[in-house]
Amino acid sequence: MTANFLKLTLSGIFLAMCVASAAVYAHDDDDDEDEHRHQQHAQREHSKSENDRHSSAVSSAKLQEECGSCHIVYPPNLLPAESWRALMGNLNKHFGTDASLDLATQKELRAELENAASSRSEGGRPVLRITQTRWFQHEHDEVSNRTWRNPKVKSASNCGACHTYAAQGKFNERDIHIPR
Ligand code: HEC
Ligand code: HEC
Repeated sequence: MTANFLKLTLSGIFLAMCVASAAVYAHDDDDDEDEHRHQQHAQREHSKSENDRHSSAVSSAKLQEECGSCHIVYPPNLLPAESWRALMGNLNKHFGTDASLDLATQKELRAELENAASSRSEGGRPVLRITQTRWFQHEHDEVSNRTWRNPKVKSASNCGACHTYAAQGKFNERDIHIPR
C-alpha cells in the first residue's frame, strides 16, 4: 500500500518534470536547433580550413560582388569569426572607406564569412587585418623591408602582388612571385 502510493507519487513528479521540461524545450526549440546546426556546420568548415590554408573554399558570387570590387575577396579562413563579426559590424568605417551594405546582405555575408572562418583565435581584441595576425607575420617574416616598400607591392594587403593566384584564393608557395 505505502509502496504503491510512493510509486504513484514518484511517477506523478516525473510526469510533472517531463511536462515542465517539454514546455521549456518547446519555448526555444527553434533557436537551439539553428544554433546547433550552425555550430556543426562551423566546426566542419573549421577543420577543413585549418587543414588547407593554401587554397580556400570558393566564396559565393555575392561575396565576390560585394567584397571584391576594391581588393581581392580575402579568403574567409584567414581570419577568425570574431574578426569577421567586427569587420562586418563596421563597414561604414572600413579602413578609411565606406563599404556599407544593406542589412540583409550584410547579415548574409557575415554568416558566410563566419561559417568558413579560421578556428585559430588571435585572443584579445579582434584583429581586423589578416596582415596583423600572428600567423601572417610568421609566414612573411622573411620578406625584406625593401620588398614591402617596393611600389609594385604597395601594401602587404595587396596579396596579389606576390601571390599570382591570390584572386582565386590560392596562396601556395609554388605560386609566389616577388616583384623586383
Ligand atoms: C569601397 C572599397 C571597399 C569595399 C567595397 C570593401 N573593402 Fe575591404 N578594404 C578596403 C580598403 C581600402 C582596405 C585597406 C587596404 C590596405 O590597407 O591596403 C581594405 C581592407 C580589408 C581587409 C584587411 C586586409 C588586410 O589584411 O590588411 C579585410 C579583411 C577586408 N577589407 C574585408 C572586406 C570585406 C569582407 C568586404 C565586403 C563586405 C570588403 N572588404 C569590401 C576597401 C574596401
Ligand atoms: C611581398 C610579397 C607578399 C605579399 C604582398 C603577400 N605575401 Fe603571402 N607570402 C609571401 C612569401 C614570400 C611567403 C612565404 C613562402 C614560404 O616561405 O613558404 C608567403 C606565404 C604566405 C602563405 C603561406 C603559404 C604556404 O604555402 O605556406 C599564405 C597563406 C599567404 N602568404 C597569404 C597571404 C595573404 C592573404 C596576403 C595578403 C593579405 C599575402 N600573403 C601577401 C609573399 C607575400
